[in-house]
Amino acid sequence: MENTLVRLKTEKKAREDRVGQWFTDVLGTSLKATGKNIVNLEIGCGHGHWLTSFATKEFNQNFVGIDLITKRIEKAVAKAEKRNLKNLCFCKADAQEFLELCHFKIANTYIMYPDPWPKLRHHKRRLIQPAFLDLLASKTIVGGRLFFMTDHLSYYEWSVSNISKSVMWVLSKDDWPHEASSYFQNILPKNQILSALRI
Ligand SMILES: C[S@@+](CC[C@H](N)C(=O)[O-])C[C@H]1O[C@@H](n2cnc3c(N)ncnc32)[C@H](O)[C@@H]1O
Repeated sequence: MENTLVRLKTEKKAREDRVGQWFTDVLGTSLKATGKNIVNLEIGCGHGHWLTSFATKEFNQNFVGIDLITKRIEKAVAKAEKRNLKNLCFCKADAQEFLELCHFKIANTYIMYPDPWPKLRHHKRRLIQPAFLDLLASKTIVGGRLFFMTDHLSYYEWSVSNISKSVMWVLSKDDWPHEASSYFQNILPKNQILSALRI
């Protein structure tokens, strides 16, 4: 038991060190290149299809994509490098840990087709939770936005309900800011969209 705890602590520290280094080396360079200190974040970016398309169009804004899966991040990085996009970078990280370590401000956050965790006993694994909304709000500028898209009606309703209860976000009626399909949107084009304003 004690050994497991020590191992988990060591692994967490290693992840924190890696992400901390990424902030300095990768994001720091990207922000310098554009002269900005604020970013737009996609959580669960997969192979980075959508964010790459967005960053190509909005080349004067900075974009960060994060995902848990190494191979997906490697593919996303290759896309940004191929297009020589200095305003776009990707990091392998868990959303919660990334936000806890994040020491820059976020303008807008995008979440497309997050894992819906449909079974009741798995709802606690859903990304949109009250504590997560508070953490994201603490890193988001007032007036920043959260954009969320899912094909899963129950997760959509869950998210609307959690955001409605938050004192830091208010549901808004913003249009989806960039029309290009993500990988999952291509497969599951019928979706529900919400946006929320950081107040
Ligand atoms: C269903 S896929 C959607 C990918 C992409 N957004 C799209 O629309 O094609 C969900 C993605 O979220 C990532 N993911 C799940 N939980 C995450 C977390 N806690 N932090 C970061 N990424 C996460 C998964 O690895 C996966 O790539």
